[in-house]
Amino acid sequence: MVKLKTIISKSPHITQKLGQRIGKFILSHKYPLKTALVVAIEGELGAGKTVFAKGFARGIGLKEIIKSPTFILMHPYRVSNSFFKTFYHLDVYRLSNEKDLKPLKFGKILENPLNLILIEWSERVKRILPKKRINIHIDHVNKNARKFVVEFGAYDLERKILNFKF
Ligand SMILES: Nc1ncnc2c1ncn2[C@@H]1O[C@H](COP(=O)(O)OP(=O)(O)OP(=O)(O)O)[C@@H](O)[C@H]1O
Ligand SMILES: [Mg+2]
Repeated sequence: MVKLKTIISKSPHITQKLGQRIGKFILSHKYPLKTALVVAIEGELGAGKTVFAKGFARGIGLKEIIKSPTFILMHPYRVSNSFFKTFYHLDVYRLSNEKDLKPLKFGKILENPLNLILIEWSERVKRILPKKRINIHIDHVNKNARKFVVEFGAYDLERKILNFKF
């Protein structure tokens, strides 16, 4: 069964908090992982993918503020206090398809269960992503509101997110 949760965020601050919350939950749960855990984010320009990613980074305990990796494609960060060792933030907007990730040895990164990966514009490369992943789709509602549809895949986080009060 596909578990979907729709959340309306009425400000960038709430989007950050949502990212932070989801990051925190991911870090505090142990999963029998076979691959890296992938959080795949889709949404048009200005949807709030990077705002979400910054909150997520905070949620997994990173001190550095994430800059949009639009020009650098992929940035690794060390994760502490978790079974994940490395967090990879990717923005694949500039790629036409998954073949462009070959030089980065991204296939190997995806195979390693010690990796946590957040990828903006994931629709560009979805053919190589593990089927079991967390998908987040963001749509513009109006200037300050965004609709998030979160698909938890097999990860059992939805009850906690449902209970989350903004
Ligand atoms: N509810 C909201 N959630 C997130 N961002 C919002 C919201 N309302 C307004 N915004 C604004 O929308 C913009 C989102 O920018 P952001 O860089 O996160 O988008 P993006 O999806 O990463 O775009 P791009 O693909 O161009 O990198 C910011 O300027 C932010 O202030
Ligand atoms: Mg961005």
